[in-house]
Amino acid sequence: MPSSERRAEIDRLRSRYIELVQLALTHMLYRPFDIRWDESPEPDDYAGSVELREAAAQEFAREDFDWADVRADGRDWPQYAQTMVGLKRLANVRYCVERVLADGVPGDLIETGIWRGGVVILMRAILDAYDDRTRTVFAADSFRGVPPPNLEAYPADTGSALHTAKALSISRKEVERNFDLYGLLDEQVQILEGWFKDSLPKVKSRTWSVIRLDGDLYESTMDALTNLYPGLSVGGFLIVDDYGHGPCRQAVTDFREAHGIDEPIEAVDWLGSFWRRTH
Ligand SMILES: C[S@@+](CC[C@H](N)C(=O)[O-])C[C@H]1O[C@@H](n2cnc3c(N)ncnc32)[C@H](O)[C@@H]1O
Repeated sequence: MPSSERRAEIDRLRSRYIELVQLALTHMLYRPFDIRWDESPEPDDYAGSVELREAAAQEFAREDFDWADVRADGRDWPQYAQTMVGLKRLANVRYCVERVLADGVPGDLIETGIWRGGVVILMRAILDAYDDRTRTVFAADSFRGVPPPNLEAYPADTGSALHTAKALSISRKEVERNFDLYGLLDEQVQILEGWFKDSLPKVKSRTWSVIRLDGDLYESTMDALTNLYPGLSVGGFLIVDDYGHGPCRQAVTDFREAHGIDEPIEAVDWLGSFWRRTH
């Protein structure tokens, strides 16, 4: 087989592998669909959940309701899937990781707020698919859910009841088992256990090519930006899963204003956004 055909075949198989991993992580390979709404905190307590529940109720009522849409959009907190991030936001992770690999943008990859580990497993799978042995995927989480809001320091988190959501508290053991199921738990994965305010200063001096924030709160978003953004390479990506939620968006806006960040923010879907650092 000529080498150009061989390269095309490797590309095709690589792409099929990454797509399969995305479908497995979101539980899209399996039936019945894994859609669950009942784990969010009470709607009175958290504005985000009110929106989600109202949207859900309206969608369920539709005769042509498309369950696959829910997983594609990542709108619920599924029971079995290894990520609550939907296919569209996973495709964005893939785009960013492949771009930095293709462009040779230096740096490790990190997600702050990993839940069952799906996004960081995907990052590691992509590195594997491209035989990248130089970068590490960092996975930062408390492994006991979201912290109670610190209203004195971060009034924007007023009203959040996410810390009461047991479904957000996933053990380190479960995450490591999930990595292992894909055969991807190795020395290119590093787990940063603890509250972001304590764990992220320890990696402050590192260089990053992809930073993905998924900690929901103003505080969690701000802690991640403060400790990680200075290390983001030019050409690297900053992804914000919760940009559609008020407190998270506020933290991003405040940080960008304070640091004169003017790269345009691009929407990924109804919730997520990202930008590429250009200077
Ligand atoms: C919405 S979930 C993340 C979803 C995940 N990215 C996925 O792929 O499904 C939010 C996660 O952030 C973690 N978290 C939020 N704030 C945190 C903080 N300040 N310190 C440590 N972990 C935090 C929670 O424990 C939880 O696992």
